[in-house]
Amino acid sequence: MIVTETERLVIREMEVGDAVPLHALLTDADFLRNIGHRGVDTVAEAEAAIVERYRPAYARHGDGMWAVVERGSGAWVGMAGLVRRPGIDHPDIGFALLPAGRGKGYAREAAGAVSAWATARGIAPVVAIVNPENAASRAVLAGLGLVPDRPIRLPGGDADVLLYVPVTPEG
Ligand SMILES: CC(C)(COP(=O)(O)OP(=O)(O)OC[C@H]1O[C@@H](n2cnc3c(N)ncnc32)[C@H](O)[C@@H]1OP(=O)(O)O)[C@@H](O)C(=O)NCCC(=O)NCCS
Repeated sequence: MIVTETERLVIREMEVGDAVPLHALLTDADFLRNIGHRGVDTVAEAEAAIVERYRPAYARHGDGMWAVVERGSGAWVGMAGLVRRPGIDHPDIGFALLPAGRGKGYAREAAGAVSAWATARGIAPVVAIVNPENAASRAVLAGLGLVPDRPIRLPGGDADVLLYVPVTPEG
């Protein structure tokens, strides 16, 4: 199911057929460094994550992490969406691209569409967490009108992450 579209991208629900590119993303070196290991090392585990984690979130919350594909070619470029996690009171915006999709403004475009989608549904505030050393991600978050608030430690985390919040918090 399509969630939202931009000039160059389609954001749609993750499907079982996305297991191969999802596995590539979840085992990518930059993903592991900036976000962390998500318990997926094989394509079969990626498929299980789609069935047991990603898709159930859509049913439970009406949102979650979605697939980002190129309009036209349909090529899978990454994922973006909303995450609800222990230790954070509000949904946070997440995005991650395969290396081939980076440096084209896709993260900015996809994150902007997710943010607009949430705003249109009255989901506010939407916050974000980031590895403080992740300059590209911080640039994307600044473009969404989010500003650094404070370092936080997520339950089970082994390092602080930086919490970003809207310039004028709502809700
Ligand atoms: C973070 C990530 C999504 C950014 O994707 P991207 O496609 O390169 O981002 P964009 O092309 O939209 O560029 C975003 C901005 O970051 C800037 N940027 C890109 N790489 C950068 C770097 N290494 N250092 C500083 N700024 C950088 C770009 O110039 C751009 O700013 P501008 O529009 O003002 O020029 C991508 O690198 C990625 O998936 N990394 C691994 C997973 C990850 O870190 N996800 C984010 C977790 S919060």
